[in-house]
Amino acid sequence: MLKIKKIVELRKILESYRLNKNIIGLVPTMGAFHAGHLSLINRARRDCDQVVVSLFVNPAQFSPGEDYNKYPREFESDIQKAKAAGVDLLFAPNEDELYPRKLLTHIEVADITDCLCGKTRPGHFQGVALVVAKLFNIIQPDKAYFGEKDWQQLKVVERMVYDLNFPVEIVPLPVVRDKDGLALSSRNQYLNQVEKRQALVISEALKMAADKIKSGQRYAVKITGLVEEMIAKTDGVELEYFSIRQPENLTEVKVIKRKVLLAIAVRLGKIRLIDNILVEVSDNVSDYAKEQNPSGNNYRG
Ligand code: PAF
Repeated sequence: MLKIKKIVELRKILESYRLNKNIIGLVPTMGAFHAGHLSLINRARRDCDQVVVSLFVNPAQFSPGEDYNKYPREFESDIQKAKAAGVDLLFAPNEDELYPRKLLTHIEVADITDCLCGKTRPGHFQGVALVVAKLFNIIQPDKAYFGEKDWQQLKVVERMVYDLNFPVEIVPLPVVRDKDGLALSSRNQYLNQVEKRQALVISEALKMAADKIKSGQRYAVKITGLVEEMIAKTDGVELEYFSIRQPENLTEVKVIKRKVLLAIAVRLGKIRLIDNILVEVSDNVSDYAKEQNPSGNNYRG
């Protein structure tokens, strides 16, 4: 596996891949690899001739006071994991390489960043869009792999690629969970044993909400109330948001009629964790909902 820090050097190697008509897959990461990253790498390995992984803890996507300085940096073990997973090239630039001077250019994907994490982490998605756009321009991958755990990030990247005509296919892959249901995240490392147990309420709340929808509940406000209650009963866990959204444009759903995204963010002290699931429903408002609202009027609560 090649380890490259400099853009000029990287470009020379990528040039040779392209001359050989190789399909190049990029897995953008901030390191501290876990099974979620490995699922992206494995899929890229299957799809592509050359697998490039970028490893860069991007300061532009952290607000002042967030965990940029504390963010896990495990360069040596990441190298071993990347090698074992069959990565061809690890691009791990220093900050000066990607941000040599103050940037005057910004990328803002509007509307879909106004809600959920975009609301509670102002500037975060501009930072993500910026670094992903830079990586796409530097590496020019044919395909790029993103986890659905960061659903809003995935939608931001997809929209940026569409709006700016980046010639790259975005390949989304499902959330990877541990055996207890906790969605894998590099930030899970911050959790002690007690917090790890408390954090299970995140996926349990999503599952409870999905079950309510599957058994006929269609009113988002009711489901949100149940989730709020469940989280409030769990020591040490504070709800930042739970929201039911249309999966593609992230607009809020009040009455569930088709596939929805259930998105949640919580805090355990200073640790912030997010998760989401998609729930499929048929177009028809269920019998349960009709029973609750025989007049068929839209809920106006
Ligand atoms: O999901 C991440 O790890 C980061 O947000 C990304 C996409 C690598 C950009 O820094």
